[in-house]
Amino acid sequence: PLLLLLLLLGCLQARLAERGDPELRAEAEAFLEKYGYLTEQTAKAPAPTRFSNAVREFQWVSQLPISGVLDQATLRQMTRPRCGVADADSHSSWTERIRVLFPGPRAQMSRKKRFARPGNNKWYKQHLSYRLVNWPEHLPESAVRGAVRAAFQVWSNVSALEFWEAPSTGPADIRLTFFQGDHNDGLDNAFDGPGGALAHAFLPRRGEAHFDRDERWSLSRRRGRNLFVVLAHEIGHTLGLAHSPAPRALMAPYYKRLGRDALLSWDDVLAVQRLYGKPLGRSVATQLPGKLFTDFEAWDLHSSQVKHPDIQGPKYCHYSFDAITVDGQQRLSIFKGSHFWEVAADGNVSEPRPLQDRWPGLPPNIEAAAVSLEDGDFYFFKGSRCWRFRGSKPVWGHPQKCRAGGLPRHPDAALFFPPLRRLILFKGARYYVLARGGLQVEPYYPRSMQDWAGVPEEIMGALPRSDGSIVFFRDDQYWRLDQATLRVTTSGRWASELPWMGCWNANSGGALF
Ligand SMILES: *[C@@H]1O[C@H](CO)[C@@H](O)[C@H](O)[C@H]1NC(C)=O
Ligand SMILES: *[C@@H]1O[C@H](CO)[C@@H](O)[C@H](O)[C@H]1NC(C)=O
Repeated sequence: PLLLLLLLLGCLQARLAERGDPELRAEAEAFLEKYGYLTEQTAKAPAPTRFSNAVREFQWVSQLPISGVLDQATLRQMTRPRCGVADADSHSSWTERIRVLFPGPRAQMSRKKRFARPGNNKWYKQHLSYRLVNWPEHLPESAVRGAVRAAFQVWSNVSALEFWEAPSTGPADIRLTFFQGDHNDGLDNAFDGPGGALAHAFLPRRGEAHFDRDERWSLSRRRGRNLFVVLAHEIGHTLGLAHSPAPRALMAPYYKRLGRDALLSWDDVLAVQRLYGKPLGRSVATQLPGKLFTDFEAWDLHSSQVKHPDIQGPKYCHYSFDAITVDGQQRLSIFKGSHFWEVAADGNVSEPRPLQDRWPGLPPNIEAAAVSLEDGDFYFFKGSRCWRFRGSKPVWGHPQKCRAGGLPRHPDAALFFPPLRRLILFKGARYYVLARGGLQVEPYYPRSMQDWAGVPEEIMGALPRSDGSIVFFRDDQYWRLDQATLRVTTSGRWASELPWMGCWNANSGGALF
């Protein structure tokens, strides 16, 4: 009977959406107008036809089943984070490209053009300069610059374009800027905080790409919005590319997920080559899989050991870390990539040491770690696997598949929570209390992070302190929570405000943050 009820409710909901709850419909209309689906050119048709045509067009661009009906899937798609540029030109540009690919009778069969052709929306030179005007302060400058360089390279590698970074005082063809809220692009283009429109850019030859400063941008494997894919997409607009309806296109209005496939789809390559031609004097570069571009902080960490020997203090102070934990002697272990650092209670930091030296068989880039203050063992979590070490000896022989016990995949952080004497895993907006032994989630969990009043979602690490507080970390911020009341008492920046994090010397030496 419960199943039946659920089915019934599901039908009812779908029906409601179809009939168009007036409020939802008004929201959908505003959305379709903002993104160029309800334009002057379509204004002559009767309103209901106009609306369902617009929905149809939106479903086509978003690769949803084309029904012209405002169903659940379509409504859901409208709330997903996306590029703020309108989709108006995507159909006509796509038709153009298809015509070039398949000349002949097929071309006549393709749909009628509904939008103006993007006429002279291109640059009339092939050497373009760019400037990064500002960037999110919690990201290391060199990692951001590396990501911007690579994002331009994505396009220059497959076309005759070349890019160079302009000096900070001179003019630049393309400028990348982070703005908050309304920034004089009209109220319709004001940034809307986390989610919604993440960025937008102007077609040539204005040369501007704008990014929402209030997003939680990330250039590491940690959760947050991958800045690189948004940079590469918006740069595509500054070159004159419209949104693409092709599957897995970088220029799709909903930013591509970085996976095993190449960053640019065939349609992206075709689009940029139609405007600027193929690379000069060299064969087209082989394309790298998108997932190689998920961790610029790690790349940078690697190369900066050669390039900036003058950076002071341990590297984790300048970047985010993978995981953090503390043992019974109040000694911290901080993990990043294939290394870890130990920080004594007085803030004295060790040299970085390879994980393998201490915990043989442990892979790099672990996601969560905690020392159990019951037995002194180290617990590590990555993907759906987990490890337990007593000293350097694995307790379980091989890594366990933790999924079976209800543990979340890819946890954000692990914590030994003294009041319960249990390990806790955090993931997104939820937390999981583990039974003793660490492989089974206790009944009634996961629960919402709202239980930890004032602590944000998607944390990066958590620690019990000997004064009875719990400290949570995310990006460059920390939150101190009182164990008894479960309320946040203070917050701030960990590298400069918590001497026991071992970054004190690094910070007194120069302005790092
Ligand atoms: C561009 O091509 C070069 C040479 O093939 C390659 O080393 C580089 O990684 C490519 N860059 C991107 C962003 O694909
Ligand atoms: C800090 O630790 C190092 C070993 O990692 C040691 O040689 C040094 O004496 C310690 N310094 C202080 C002030 O404790």
